[in-house]
Formats: sequence, structure tokens, C-alpha cells
Amino acid sequence: MTSATFGFAVQATCGKARAGTITTPRGDIRTPAFMPVGTAATVKAMLPGSVRATGADILLGNTYHLMLRPTAERIAALGGLHKFMNWDRPILTDSGGFQVMSLASLRKMTEKGVTFRSHIDGSRHEITPERSMEIQRLLGSDIVMAFDECTPYPADEGTARASMELSMRWAQRSRDAFGDRPGHALFGIQQGSVYADQRAESASKLRTIGFDGYAVGGLAVGEGQEKMFEVLDYAPDMLPEDKPRYLMGVGKPSDIVGAVARGIDMMDCVLPSRSGRTGQGWTARGQVNLRNARHRDDPRPLEEGCTCPACTGYSRAYLHHVIKSDEIIGSMLLTWHNLHYYQSLMQGLRDAISAGALADFTAAFHANVALGDV
Ligand code: GUN
Ligand code: ZN
Repeated sequence: MTSATFGFAVQATCGKARAGTITTPRGDIRTPAFMPVGTAATVKAMLPGSVRATGADILLGNTYHLMLRPTAERIAALGGLHKFMNWDRPILTDSGGFQVMSLASLRKMTEKGVTFRSHIDGSRHEITPERSMEIQRLLGSDIVMAFDECTPYPADEGTARASMELSMRWAQRSRDAFGDRPGHALFGIQQGSVYADQRAESASKLRTIGFDGYAVGGLAVGEGQEKMFEVLDYAPDMLPEDKPRYLMGVGKPSDIVGAVARGIDMMDCVLPSRSGRTGQGWTARGQVNLRNARHRDDPRPLEEGCTCPACTGYSRAYLHHVIKSDEIIGSMLLTWHNLHYYQSLMQGLRDAISAGALADFTAAFHANVALGDV
């Protein structure tokens, strides 16, 4: 299904968890949704059709990487990011600041924005809220993220407040620069570190500005799951009920299950794709290191009952061999399996919410992980 405009409808709730649909002109997004990361106009080791086959409705792309190479202007001249990477469904793009802080050198932040040197060739660049909106428009992103600062962790109350307030001024500038673009959405990003009063103030500022969706930012930055869940016990409730809530950069399967139970609708993480390339498989029984010699002679699939190509066509012994040999197919198969596992987890969560049985699903999830890979 496609819709002329951007919209969101909640179809079922279970406790704080919601199952719904985001409608866009490029297709529907079933929520809770996991977005595979396609940083450089590719989900590494996967063809777009394969990513779709795992069950993904939407991908994430990155302003920072694409502005440096091949540049947003070049992608625009070639017809936009969807055409460029051959993915015709929705794309969400992050706004750049988070990646500048983790990858670029000689970063300098001012009220205006951030200047930095490229991690690729050392060239000088600047991102402001206005430039971030322009880049994301040139890319043709369906869901545009406001330009913000991801407050580092830990941050004392004063530091966190100054950072949050800067992000809120940038949120207003992002809103002004984005303008009115029917069919395209702009999401605001809540900051405030681990301080409930600051999270509330940030949410209130964003609601006053008005966005099509709201992200919880500044988490999964080293605080640990327990602290993150503490914040998620209240932060999503501060955001509008009738708009999607997106937890940025999360996470492990157990993070996802906990976040969904606390009212989160969208997530993204490099974990399933990145760890697949290093030989880590994610299954209902937890994480499996295919590099381990215990798999050398094992004729069983990585995950019994999994319908992905890695599990229907190959043994653990084969996966171990190609990973150890640095064969490209090792990255392809493990990435496919991991994305398939993540999308099955999301389908399980959506079904459980719709059936009013999320607590049972969560209990079974943890019980299975506790059994371990044997
Ligand atoms: N990715 C993970 N966390 C964040 C955040 O707080 N802001 C942005 N823009 N991206 C993120
Ligand atoms: Zn599999």
C-alpha cells in the first residue's frame, strides 16, 4: 500500500507497546520496525532485493557519509538515493551530527553548526541545520531527521542542559529550513541525557515546534541497558501518542524487546549487519560465534527452523569455513541470517502486541536466550 501523504496509525496496544503502520508514498512501514543500516547507499553484503526479502520495510542512510562521498549533489543529479541504490521503498536519513562526532577529526561546534575534516581525505566541511535539511532533500529521504547534538555520556546536568538546549534551537532551525514537503516527514530528536526533567523539557520544546515523528536520542552511548531502560521508562511517554517514536542506534535483540515494551515504534542498528561480517550470528538462543572451532564439523544449520538462505542451504561447518577463510559469501550469509532474525523478532513483537500477549512473548524470548546455543 502507498499513501499520498505521510501518516501513522496505531492498530493495537499491549501495555505501553504499540503495533501500527506508518504510511508513506513509497510504501507502508509496519511498526514496531527495525531499520537495517545502509550508511553508504548499501546495506553491506546485501542486494536491495535481499534486504527486502528479510522483511525490511525501510532502510536508514547517512547524511555524513553520502555528503562526503559521492556527495548529495551527485546523487541528486543521478535521480536521488532510491534510484541510485535501487531501493524504492522508504529511506530514513540521519542528520549528520552524530556521525561527525564519532568519525570526523578537528570537529568544532558553534551555535551555527559543526565544522570538521573528512575521515576519508581530510577535506574541510560544515553541517548546519539548514545544510543538513538541504542534503537530506537532495538525497530524497522520506524521513528526515532534525540536526542535533547527541549528548555524550556521561554528562553532568549543566553540560547535558547546554547540549539539549542547543539541539532544541537547531530543531527549530531544522523545522524552518525543511518547510512544507507533502509526503516527506521531519522527525525531531529528544535529548536530555539521563535527566528526567531535561527529557521533559526537550519533549515539550519539540511538541511546540511540531514534528511528524519524534526520536529518543542520546541513548545507547555507553550508559548500559539498565540505565537506558530507566530513561525509556519515562522518555517515550513524554512524546505525542499519535506520532511514531524512534529510538536511535538500538540495539541488541534484548534492547529491542525492552524498548518496544516501553512504547518505542522504530529502531536502527548496525549490529546485525556489522557483526555478521565478523562471523557473529544472532539467534533465538542468543549470539553464536561462527569463528569458534566447535562448529568445524557441525552439519547442523546455524538456526534450526530458520528459513534464510544461510540456514536452508548451509551447515555451521560451512559458515565456519567461509568466515575463517574471509570469503565474501561468509559476510553475505551471516548478514542475511542476522537481518532475517531481527525482522522475525519484529514480526513476533508485532503479532504478540496485536494478540495482547507481549508479556508471554517477552518471557519466552528471555527463556530461549537463557537456554543458550548448544
Ligand atoms: N544515532 C544514535 N543516537 C543519535 C542521536 O542522539 N542523534 C542522532 N542524530 N543520531 C543518533
Ligand atoms: Zn538463518
